[in-house]
Amino acid sequence: MEGIAWRGIMGKFATGVTVITTLDEAGRPIGMTANAFTSLSLEPPLLLICLDKGSSTLVSLLAARKFAVNFLADTQEEVSRRFARKSETDKFDEVDYREGELGLPVLGSCLASVECSLADTLDGGDHLILVGQGEFLYEPETQSSPLLFYQGKYRALQALEI
Ligand SMILES: Cc1cc2nc3c(=O)[nH]c(=O)nc-3n(C[C@H](O)[C@H](O)[C@H](O)COP(=O)(O)O)c2cc1C
Repeated sequence: MEGIAWRGIMGKFATGVTVITTLDEAGRPIGMTANAFTSLSLEPPLLLICLDKGSSTLVSLLAARKFAVNFLADTQEEVSRRFARKSETDKFDEVDYREGELGLPVLGSCLASVECSLADTLDGGDHLILVGQGEFLYEPETQSSPLLFYQGKYRALQALEI
């Protein structure tokens, strides 16, 4: 099967967009954009993300054994683009964030953020599946809607009129 056909079909599944944040070995904030996210379990509260084995954020996350998942709002397309770049530049320049209870970067203007401890890892081909246990929740007051990603493009939510 050709990779391009696989990507095309996978792109037909609409998702939200998250930024995964953690701390590098020097305690500096680091992060990346990810849409391979799913809620996993209510009791205990578990979620999972899938990160490319080549990503710099993954190396730091495995060392820190904790990460935050930030659900982006439709006002944050630029934040998503910024965190989808490689880590050579400081992605947190001019980005609004604060330290959460676990010391992780919690981004401002998001719909919600979850600080997690790393509960498990599973192999997933060229990605690693990371299971996070929710430790602290953040839900700022906002009127924003989610940022969506579909067929390689950013989209906004549109209510269906019934
Ligand atoms: C909308 C969108 C969703 C993405 N989702 C993922 C994902 O779920 N997992 C992943 O490994 N990379 C994903 N990426 C790509 C990473 O954000 C990108 O490779 C980033 O440069 C990795 O940064 P790092 O190497 O500095 O950690 C996504 C990119 C975009 C634009």
